[in-house]
Amino acid sequence: MEASQQLVVSKVIHATPRIRGFVLRHPEGKPLPAFEAGAHLDVSIPLASGEIALRSYSIASSPADRSHYLLGVLREDAGKGGSAAMHAHVGVGRLLTCSLPKNHFALAPQSPHYLLIAGGIGITPLLSMVRVLASAKSDFSLYYCVRNGEDAAFLDEIEHLAGCRLTLHCDGGDPSRSVDLDALLRDAPPRADVYVCGPRGLNEAVIEAGKRANWPPQRVHFEFFATAAPAASDSAFRVVLQQSGQTVDVARDESILDALLRHNVEPLYDCKRGECGLCATTVIEGDVEHRDYVLSPEDRNERNLMCVCVSRSKRGDLILDL
Ligand code: FES
Repeated sequence: MEASQQLVVSKVIHATPRIRGFVLRHPEGKPLPAFEAGAHLDVSIPLASGEIALRSYSIASSPADRSHYLLGVLREDAGKGGSAAMHAHVGVGRLLTCSLPKNHFALAPQSPHYLLIAGGIGITPLLSMVRVLASAKSDFSLYYCVRNGEDAAFLDEIEHLAGCRLTLHCDGGDPSRSVDLDALLRDAPPRADVYVCGPRGLNEAVIEAGKRANWPPQRVHFEFFATAAPAASDSAFRVVLQQSGQTVDVARDESILDALLRHNVEPLYDCKRGECGLCATTVIEGDVEHRDYVLSPEDRNERNLMCVCVSRSKRGDLILDL
């Protein structure tokens, strides 16, 4: 079973009309487990229905200060209730069960330039990075993309830390006024690393701009907030597990991983977003539609791996080495 920790909410910050900052501390004031910029916590949130929702929130505070973690939570009114419950029911003094810090979005140790691109609540892991980079006097620039200025959480602190290295980009909700990513990546200093965290569209646009500008994939770092919604064309299929002989039905709106877990088959996994590669599984037979962001062409075509948390069958059954 995964290690967890109980943390107490010591402060709630009303950062914007829809974003709250939650400051979490050890109940007895002890130092918290160490983390590096880019890390997140999985938080167990009790819902009104009595169910427990598990949500991942990036840590926005400084890794150098282990007295607390700062999380930023956007209230998603059309979401499944986790963020709404955090806003409605979690106040000062509330105990929360959290994972230990996990990090799939760590800073490269030495880069000539760190190009940070945040979309909305995606600022949280990048704020932790800005704290580290500013204190190390590293070369960085931060593009903080929001609809309007009032949507920009933690702005005073970011301006203080980043100074003239911050560009606040307000598009007013008009896609034609989005930041020019091709120009950003084209004009970045040689051998820079780019870090993007924001809505899926922004992350994918940066990944595509990186390909157009011939950036090596290992210098394009990204973190998605949520699992991908099912595509309209997704259909149900079956997975045959070669080692155990089990057959598992995968519904059109569930992942192979969730179907496996439903059948008490527990492969290694973590992010559930096609980013960490932990759930990579060998495909013995079948036609795979790859949707991950981590496997190389060799992984897919020569090692026959697939990420079962996001990728699916293109047609027909799949036989997996499980
Ligand atoms: S669990 Fe991370 S890629 Fe599948």
